[in-house]
Amino acid sequence: MQRRRFLMGMAAAPLLWHANDARALDNGLALTPPMGWNSWNCFRAEIDEEKILSIAEAMVSSGMKDAGYEYVILDDGWQTAERDSGGRIQPNSVKFPGGMNALSDSIHALGLKFGIYSSPSYTSCEGLMGSRGHEQRDADDFAAWGVDYLKYDWCKFEGSEAECRAAFELMRDCLAKTGRPIVYSAHDKCTEGSESGGLPWIREVANLHRVSPDIKDDWNRMLECIDAGVELYEFAGPGYWNDPDMLEVGSFGKDLTERFTRRGYRAMTLNEYRTHFSLWCIASAPLIAGNDLRCMPPDIAAILTNPGAVAINQDPLGAQGRPVKTRDGVQLWFKPKSGERSCAALAVNRGDETASFSLDLEALLLGPGRYAARDVWTGETFALDAEGLALNGIEPHGCVLLSIEPAE
Ligand code: GAL
Repeated sequence: MQRRRFLMGMAAAPLLWHANDARALDNGLALTPPMGWNSWNCFRAEIDEEKILSIAEAMVSSGMKDAGYEYVILDDGWQTAERDSGGRIQPNSVKFPGGMNALSDSIHALGLKFGIYSSPSYTSCEGLMGSRGHEQRDADDFAAWGVDYLKYDWCKFEGSEAECRAAFELMRDCLAKTGRPIVYSAHDKCTEGSESGGLPWIREVANLHRVSPDIKDDWNRMLECIDAGVELYEFAGPGYWNDPDMLEVGSFGKDLTERFTRRGYRAMTLNEYRTHFSLWCIASAPLIAGNDLRCMPPDIAAILTNPGAVAINQDPLGAQGRPVKTRDGVQLWFKPKSGERSCAALAVNRGDETASFSLDLEALLLGPGRYAARDVWTGETFALDAEGLALNGIEPHGCVLLSIEPAE
């Protein structure tokens, strides 16, 4: 039924992809999925001024900035456990002796943008200060510090779904009152498991919304995160994005504590990192890297900065790609792009044996004609017509990501 509705919509006009009427948050931001770096996957709460500045510098020198990454986001751990005597949220002065304005100025001087973390609860997951009861004061301070992006994380929120919704709406309004453009990233776990799952209302509240469990550097967990947002494709578009969590590309198992390795988690291979990135690109997910950019090997940089993959993610139409077919363990994803009869396709081998996949125009919801398909990872170009295209030798957990344009 779901698939039938999907096919009918596409046959009529690609724009019907956005079948949902709820308006996205109209703050003029995040018209394509945000791109940046966040401190959590790499450092947990062990962040400080020196680390963040060296990461920001590495974002420029590694080519990440040129590839489109712009936000440098502090996650939990920047703040203290108490407000100051005037009731203001304060940075930990041991970790950030120069204060937030100086840090923000240095990040802006590199041509990058500055992001910060808070919570609608009294405390964050790390037991540090949250914004509850002080929302406008905090939003004003964030704006005065030159913050361009806020990750607002549900942690420890006590209250009903309605109260939780009100808390996320309150911060949206407080941010708007500051007059500063601030991308609003919500992690609204309070509706998890509820019938609405936070949608569609969250679309009018935030620019992005976490739809997955916390990601880990592990193939199965990564798939669990991307699968969690698959059915939500119709909500995504310019101004609102479903967020399957940050990227693990190049984490090399750094976030796998013994608790996870005992459960069988293991760091992804290079091949799996490439597939992970391809999935985030075709699903129009925010591209928020989480690896240590200061010592990023060239093969990891080559994944995160691949221009063809990033262009698929940043396509201005803003459609969220989704799986349309699975055969012999290979899952085919399809994403319409802004050009007429232009799209992206991703064949993911989710199985443990090398596999082949025969791509046909019908599976890609493309009308008859001749197309040129460019493999963004190898640079090879193939003709695609009524005969179809055989994708052979897709390695276990590997993928083929194609950018497809009409050939005539
Ligand atoms: C979790 C969140 C993580 C990270 C962490 C910080 O709720 O999912 O991404 O922000 O809190 O304590």
